[in-house]
Amino acid sequence: MSSLLVTGGAGFIGANFVHYWLRQHPDDRVVVLDALTYAGNLASLASASGNPAYRFVQGDIRDTTLVGSLLEKEAIDTIVHFAAESHVDRSISSPDAFIQTNMVGTYSLLEAARSHWLGGTAAGEHRFHHVSTDEVYGALGVEDPAFTEHTAYAPNSPYSASKAGSDHLVRAYHHTYGLQVTTSNCSNNYGPYQFPEKLIPLMIVNALDGKPMPVYGDGSNIRDWLYVEDHVRGIDMVIKQGAVGETYNIGGNEEHANLDIVSRLCASIDEIFAADDGLAGRFPHAPAASGTATSSLITLVKDRPGHDWRYAVDASRIQAELGFSPAHDFNSGLRNTVAWMLANEDWWRAILDDSYRSWIEDQYEKR
Ligand code: NAD
Ligand code: DAU
Repeated sequence: MSSLLVTGGAGFIGANFVHYWLRQHPDDRVVVLDALTYAGNLASLASASGNPAYRFVQGDIRDTTLVGSLLEKEAIDTIVHFAAESHVDRSISSPDAFIQTNMVGTYSLLEAARSHWLGGTAAGEHRFHHVSTDEVYGALGVEDPAFTEHTAYAPNSPYSASKAGSDHLVRAYHHTYGLQVTTSNCSNNYGPYQFPEKLIPLMIVNALDGKPMPVYGDGSNIRDWLYVEDHVRGIDMVIKQGAVGETYNIGGNEEHANLDIVSRLCASIDEIFAADDGLAGRFPHAPAASGTATSSLITLVKDRPGHDWRYAVDASRIQAELGFSPAHDFNSGLRNTVAWMLANEDWWRAILDDSYRSWIEDQYEKR
């Protein structure tokens, strides 16, 4: 039996991880530590709340005393560190929170872990798993090979620079102090519980509400996409079987240009509306409700400053060494995501209040 501290468990990937872990490892204890920033949402954890193996604590990862007492009282042997500021656009307009949470917060968590596992009475097997991103490797051109674990770091945004800094700290705590760490660097995730500021959920809610679907620049930027359930399964494999001190890239082998993704989503929403009469009543502002193509909402807008052109992940290490491969391809993952958004309108409606909408619109105006 293991006792996990999951930081950022009320966010998108963290919540998926918590549900996955409670399902797959019912004998383990899962303690979530989350500050509940704008991106944290207890509704994403609602179905775990009656489970005696689960506990939620609202708090900041920079609170080393709080983290120390949780490690002690809950006899934590594994930290899974998701907590972060995660949205690139926000890091461009307001970098401060990114430095605070991603760098200072990770440092603070590492200090608490070092003091508890290496300096106190709890010495023994432990694991600090750090969840990171492929963005630390920078941007690729069309012919460049995909990022491997040996690609030099070249972060381009305040977000990716702050994640790169946190990766280096995690590495240093292993090298210098012997903290038992692993790190995973994953590509773009999508799926249930993703905050609708990220490309895929934002496009779905705008399509359903008949709002413009803003595609940055000419829409040619490429990302590698992984369904979130595959990511959390990959993290499980790294925690259970990964070598201490090592890093593993996780990817979907699904490179797609933004405009292709948005066009695919539009076509799929048109088809779903055509097959289900009830949707026009639920979403009267959607073009698809009146038989108009959803793609009529696609609007090319000013580009993101410093916009990385392409990411691609070489995930051959985790495949060869740990046996990981994605279970979902992009088509099935997108279908599941659209279906989840249609079935969970209450979840995203609660987020789309006026202040959030005006924040998004303000971002476009500032460019
Ligand atoms: P998210 O923004 O949806 O969630 C982040 C969570 O962290 C929120 O619940 C928030 O309340 C919490 N948090 C923020 N600051 C905190 C603090 N100081 N103390 C405690 N909690 C705090 O993020 P996500 O998309 O779920 O990403 C999770 C992790 O995975 C991040 O580290 C991110 O860098 C990494 N990652 C994300 C993706 C992706 O596509 N979303 C891909 C690769 C890696
Ligand atoms: O690569 C992993 C990273 O993926 C994670 O580390 C980040 O936390 C996560 O946010 C994501 O970063 P991106 O910047 O790639 O994701 P985002 O959804 O913001 O944008 C995806 C692409 O779509 C990117 O090229 C910008 C573009 N885009 C985004 C938005 C929100 C648009 O064209 N229009 C939009 O409105």
